Amino acid sequence: MSDTIQEPVIARYKPYYAELEKGKRYFWCACGRSKSQPWCDGSHKGTGIAPLPYQAQEDGEEVLFCGCKRTSDVPFCDGSHNNLRERYETDDPLSPENQAVPLAEEASPGRVVLDGSCRVHRVGRLPDEGAGTVEVRKLISPEDGAVHQSQFHLTLPPGYSQAMEFPRRQVLLFVTSDSGELAIGSRKFALDPCTGAFVRPGEAFALTAPPDRPMGVYASVFPHADGPQWRRGLADYFDSHYPDRTIATDRDKATPMADRFFQVLIDKTQGFENGAQFIGEIPLSKAVAHRHLYEETLIVVSGEGCLWTENVKTSVGTGDVIFLPPKQRHSLECTGKDGMLVAGVIFPGDNPSINY
Ligand code: FES
Repeated sequence: MSDTIQEPVIARYKPYYAELEKGKRYFWCACGRSKSQPWCDGSHKGTGIAPLPYQAQEDGEEVLFCGCKRTSDVPFCDGSHNNLRERYETDDPLSPENQAVPLAEEASPGRVVLDGSCRVHRVGRLPDEGAGTVEVRKLISPEDGAVHQSQFHLTLPPGYSQAMEFPRRQVLLFVTSDSGELAIGSRKFALDPCTGAFVRPGEAFALTAPPDRPMGVYASVFPHADGPQWRRGLADYFDSHYPDRTIATDRDKATPMADRFFQVLIDKTQGFENGAQFIGEIPLSKAVAHRHLYEETLIVVSGEGCLWTENVKTSVGTGDVIFLPPKQRHSLECTGKDGMLVAGVIFPGDNPSINY
């Protein structure tokens, strides 16, 4: 006689991190009743639920196994745990332990170094490293501990147009409150506030500021680059396999994450391989400290708050850029009643709601 299938039990509201051995067979507990999470201990007997075998492909493979047992991507966490409760898990910034956390120091003008290689960089205070009319500020580079990406901020004066290239690189662009135009080959795209854009490897592109005001653009480049290479004009190359290159923020397309929201803007749909660009809304609160396996950068689009790591904290405000290396324990607090908007890039990964 077959068992009646019972509901899985929520073992916990976040995944389990595990480092695996190549070739070894692991059995992920699917019923949630095991006392040896995330592994099966036989407690599923009579539930009608069976454990799921998993074999690591390489030594040291790092995996986040679902702890809530509600994932749609068994046995891995897919972020579903966030929506099992009404509110995102938070922490009290006024607790005695948090009140004792000191402020991090500025290592050089505009650059605050927190624990590990966690950073907050303040765009307006960084030196202009551009050699011409376009101002170029280096935000994130290998010197900051970034493994996968470099990030720059470019400012074009009113009405100015400049062609450029990051040879053989994937380039993600984001405009916060400015607007202008992006051209790739003969294709033109409007860059409006809170729009993400993508340039495929091998493509040169041109940015044009509106006639009456400057345009500031954040550019994330994969893999690293020292800076843009300026071009006199555009080669007529556009990878037409991926015709859609700009995605605007649209609250109707956002994914809820308890009382927060995020919207993936650019991912493999637009040809961005192994990563994702997203925009996220954070209400007045301090998230509980957590980690993730991807490297992440966050642009504070609007609002203000505080970034916390294990031993220090620093304020963050509009225009600042946060760099979070993989596995860095951290917490982002929004301190304004109007909330905070952040534009993030994760790599590798395509789901910014997976953390542990
Ligand atoms: S822990 Fe189950 S989806 Fe994340």
